[in-house]
Amino acid sequence: MDEEEIQKQIFALVKELYHERSKQKKFIPGKSRVLFSGDIFDEREMVARVKAVLPEWITLGPRDVEFTEAFSKFMGVKHTLVTNSGSSANLIAVSALCSKNFPNRLRKGDEIITPACTFPTTLSPIILNNLMPVFLDVELGTYNINAQSLEKAISNKTKAMFIPHTLGNPNEMDVIMETCERHNIILLEDNCDSLDSTYGGKRTGSFGLIGTSSFYPAHHLSMGEGGAAYTNDLKIYRLMLSLRNWGRGCYCALNEKNPQGACNARFDYKVKGVPYDHKYLYTNIGFNLKPLDLQPAVGIEQLKKQPDFTEKRKKNFKRMYKIFERFEEFFILPYALPKSDPSWFAFPLTIKPEAGFERKDFTLFMEQNLIDTRHLFAGNILQHPAYEGIECRVAEKLDNADLIFSNSLFMGVYPGLFEAHFEYIESKVEEFFRNNKSAKLK
Ligand SMILES: Cc1ncc(COP(=O)(O)O)c(C=O)c1O
Repeated sequence: MDEEEIQKQIFALVKELYHERSKQKKFIPGKSRVLFSGDIFDEREMVARVKAVLPEWITLGPRDVEFTEAFSKFMGVKHTLVTNSGSSANLIAVSALCSKNFPNRLRKGDEIITPACTFPTTLSPIILNNLMPVFLDVELGTYNINAQSLEKAISNKTKAMFIPHTLGNPNEMDVIMETCERHNIILLEDNCDSLDSTYGGKRTGSFGLIGTSSFYPAHHLSMGEGGAAYTNDLKIYRLMLSLRNWGRGCYCALNEKNPQGACNARFDYKVKGVPYDHKYLYTNIGFNLKPLDLQPAVGIEQLKKQPDFTEKRKKNFKRMYKIFERFEEFFILPYALPKSDPSWFAFPLTIKPEAGFERKDFTLFMEQNLIDTRHLFAGNILQHPAYEGIECRVAEKLDNADLIFSNSLFMGVYPGLFEAHFEYIESKVEEFFRNNKSAKLK
């Protein structure tokens, strides 16, 4: 057999393996787990990832180029940089603002506005870069900051804001953009949970200087692990590329043909009079946060499925809403702003303080019945041991973030859930309220 034939057989077997496995996947109510998320892979992702590990070169390369071009087009941005996680993309985004190569770089003690109800690795890069987080509360139901509150967080040290679009729900971008422009504030968007959500027809993640995505399986697009940072600004892209790639100044593509590099001056650089190969000239204090080539290989296939995934997420959100609107006297239900069109990451719920039962009662009952629940990320992150005593400024009372910390949860709407799952969830929610005497329906 020649190489081509061997590969043909390998791919045929991989496809067969996929079909064999999928025969065993059947939802049995009460026996199968109702996941809140998961990757939706079929034979195309399986073959793509095997194809990507068969060459001798498995390091980031040709699939990176194909994926980032397609992803930039999808997002409506000019440049995309893949990373090994969404957390790494966040780290690169904040670190870029602090680089000596960033015009008016942010310095120790400069302030970044961010919500208190957040994900840890949205906040951590702010602290790790010695910047001062300034916390705002969030709204119950949208779980995003109240954009009108921004003004009260701004001081003469405010340089940037970093906002997640919580669980796929877009922030009020009109007000945020206008405020940022008026005060000359740089906007970073943590779009990790919000791929394909739009505000006023524009994709979240494409409003600010930098947007970030996570491609962990819980997210809209899965690479197993992975992430991206994107921007319209070529200089910022090159700066982020440098930070991802050890801090080196070189921005040559892998297949660069010119021996003098993309800058056409690779061997003409001089450092303190010494000619130095630009490929190994370090212009930033960087990291290595690259994924393998197999991650974008999977991403290419996943990107093609986004329109279908988004439609299913929206449909599943509506179906969950139908289940829980009957119990509105116990729960604060999620909602989106008029100009928002969310591709929901999950279905958030806050148990009203007067509901007559606790979050643990509800989540434990669901988990005992094999239905996944999660807390709404960190709730008020300042309640967590890691962030106790950090240097920060709290710009308003964090009452809602505290209530989210104690009373909120979310459940799944990902495209792997179908009517049989929702009928089962509905029956268990009804059972919870039948059994729970203190939470009887009026
Ligand atoms: C809002 C938000 N930001 C950042 C991340 C981090 O992404 P990753 O898990 O890929 O590091 C997550 C992960 O779920 C997230 O939800």
